[in-house]
Amino acid sequence: MSTYLVFGATGNVGRRVAERLAWSGAAVRATSRNPEAAKLPHGVEVITPDLTAPGALDDVEGAFLMWPFHSGDPARPIVDALKRRVRRVVFMTGGGTLPGLAPDEQPNPVARWHATVERLIEQSGMEWTVLSPSTFMANTLWWSTQTKAGDSVRGAFGSLAMTPVHEDDIAAVAVHALIEPGHATHRYTLTGPEVLTQAEQVRLIGQAIGRPLHWQELTLEQERARLLADPGFPDDFIGELLDGYATMAAAPRPEVTSAVPDITGTPATTLSAWAAEHAADFGGDQR
Ligand SMILES: NC(=O)c1ccc[n+]([C@@H]2O[C@H](COP(=O)([O-])OP(=O)(O)OC[C@H]3O[C@@H](n4cnc5c(N)ncnc54)[C@H](OP(=O)(O)O)[C@@H]3O)[C@@H](O)[C@H]2O)c1
Repeated sequence: MSTYLVFGATGNVGRRVAERLAWSGAAVRATSRNPEAAKLPHGVEVITPDLTAPGALDDVEGAFLMWPFHSGDPARPIVDALKRRVRRVVFMTGGGTLPGLAPDEQPNPVARWHATVERLIEQSGMEWTVLSPSTFMANTLWWSTQTKAGDSVRGAFGSLAMTPVHEDDIAAVAVHALIEPGHATHRYTLTGPEVLTQAEQVRLIGQAIGRPLHWQELTLEQERARLLADPGFPDDFIGELLDGYATMAAAPRPEVTSAVPDITGTPATTLSAWAAEHAADFGGDQR
């Protein structure tokens, strides 16, 4: 039986990849810095994320890799370890990484780290697939403290258009790319089925959970102060996030791609369906 490694298996996407592989009957080895708390399906072997440790890559046929690091420095040892033992790698890159540009030509540090990994993987000799997802639907959970407290969501860039994608649709594509032939040397841009501004996302989440939610626009400085005051939001991510939104706002309006339905054979999930799954997280049962 083939064994697949899932790196970052407790994350938004990695958990879904590990679950889908396990449900397909594959042997799954998954990484977490805290294996005892990983809560992955029965039968999934959970190891710490040191891929150079003895046995970490034994019998691994394919690996799902995401990038949790705030640097490109770990890229070489990780890709070197993989290429010695693994035939196929599926890498989930950052949404802002521009294809075809060298790491030092990328527009920001996050894109540079991800481009560094992409380049090493492409030169590694492994069969590689790069998944370039648009904004995760799960990012809307950042609004959940506000939706539990009232009917408005305050933030900047309310008219910013995105193509939010369900994390499970990304995972479904990753599993296809891991277990079936035909995906090597492909870079897939994965989106959800709709172009939606942030204000429209709030309205749709409201409809899905039965509450009249609306967007309340803040200036950039008000938004920075609001995020800094939010204990649940990491301070070192605020600049990265707001810079990313400013870059997206200056870019052409994003377009929906057909990669998810083309590869999985199933339509990409709407935000309304995703929000219905997460109604309780948004305080959907509160009035
Ligand atoms: N959010 C978006 O809209 C978006 C869009 C496009 C691309 N992306 C990219 O998606 C990636 C994030 O994916 P995600 O949201 O699925 O991840 P996530 O939910 O943030 O989870 C991070 C995963 O990495 C593991 N991890 C954290 N620090 C680690 C470390 N130092 N060493 C080894 N493992 C570590 C965590 O496991 P443990 O804590 O159990 O160790 C967890 O499984 C980033 O590369 C981001 O740029 C995100």
